[in-house]
Amino acid sequence: MNTPDIASPDFPSPDSPHIPVLLSEVVAALSPRDGGVYIDGTFGAGGYTKALLEAADCKVWAIDRDPDALARGATLVERFPGRLHLIAGRFGDMAKLLAEHGVRNVDGIALDIGVSSMQIDDRARGFSFLRDGPLDMRMERAGRSAADVVNTLPEKDLAEIILTFGEEKHARRVARAIVKARVERPFSRTLHLADVIRAEVRRAHDGIDPATRTFQALRIYVNDELGELDRGLRSAEFLLRAGGMLAVVSFHSLEDRIVKTFMRTRSAEAARPSRHMPASAVKGAAPTFRLVTKRPTVPGDDEIARNPRSRSARLRVAERTDATALASVDGGLA
Ligand SMILES: C[S@@+](CC[C@H](N)C(=O)[O-])C[C@H]1O[C@@H](n2cnc3c(N)ncnc32)[C@H](O)[C@@H]1O
Repeated sequence: MNTPDIASPDFPSPDSPHIPVLLSEVVAALSPRDGGVYIDGTFGAGGYTKALLEAADCKVWAIDRDPDALARGATLVERFPGRLHLIAGRFGDMAKLLAEHGVRNVDGIALDIGVSSMQIDDRARGFSFLRDGPLDMRMERAGRSAADVVNTLPEKDLAEIILTFGEEKHARRVARAIVKARVERPFSRTLHLADVIRAEVRRAHDGIDPATRTFQALRIYVNDELGELDRGLRSAEFLLRAGGMLAVVSFHSLEDRIVKTFMRTRSAEAARPSRHMPASAVKGAAPTFRLVTKRPTVPGDDEIARNPRSRSARLRVAERTDATALASVDGGLA
């Protein structure tokens, strides 16, 4: 069962600024040191970046694919002269992006997957099914929008996307309704789509808006979020030096499964047939990570009370070993 997505626009206080999730836990996981070099792969409102820069006299390379987020980060760059560098791009490309700046190894990487409160709350970005806006959902403001997807994809493909990325059990019915409605009037607004979904799927006992899962699915598809996560984890393996820490916060089961599987496989925890057998014996490759969090860290009641959007967050942490990275990363770096 999918947990409610933090990035869904159905949480309270829609106009709140972004509050960093599991902040002290992420900083503790990276435990920044003077002279260290860190990557914040999801800069957002700069919550993690600022905390890392305050915790030690270190450098942070902060990446975001959203040009609005980077524009807002300019004041933080001024506040930490020579210590913060903002990069426009995707964390899936971080090995290549950092290599362009001559950086090949780092001491820690934080990823806070999903969308920020600013993105959700700005109706013009088209993530909200509660407030009308253009049906956009592109974090990068480039490429195929959600409207392009629902107006052009065959019914079968739409159903597949809604089922896989939204875990919506009525995916086929929703896809059929979308295809029928777009013949009369192509979709261009969020509320048009939300109304079509609501007419098809009844509100469940848990009170979650029936549009939640389909909007989540479209957002993940439009931004290739799971592909990015996969590439991001492999890039992290490539970039982290021995002893370097990887901390990933995710907000729904699809993402958490990818992070869990990656960390378990790379630390050989899952594959090891016997706990007496050394991990290095598994598949002939030495583990590239050591699991730090066997179970994910979740926000406490206090944090959830302060920030309801944190309630489905899960933090997983792993430490890089000195073994050679198992996978090459896109961009011909390995
Ligand atoms: C949850 S917010 C991060 C908030 C941040 N940790 C803070 O404390 O302010 C996620 C941010 O990551 C960005 N993002 C999502 N996927 C990305 C990707 N593949 N590459 C780069 N940035 C991404 C989004 O644009 C958004 O600004």
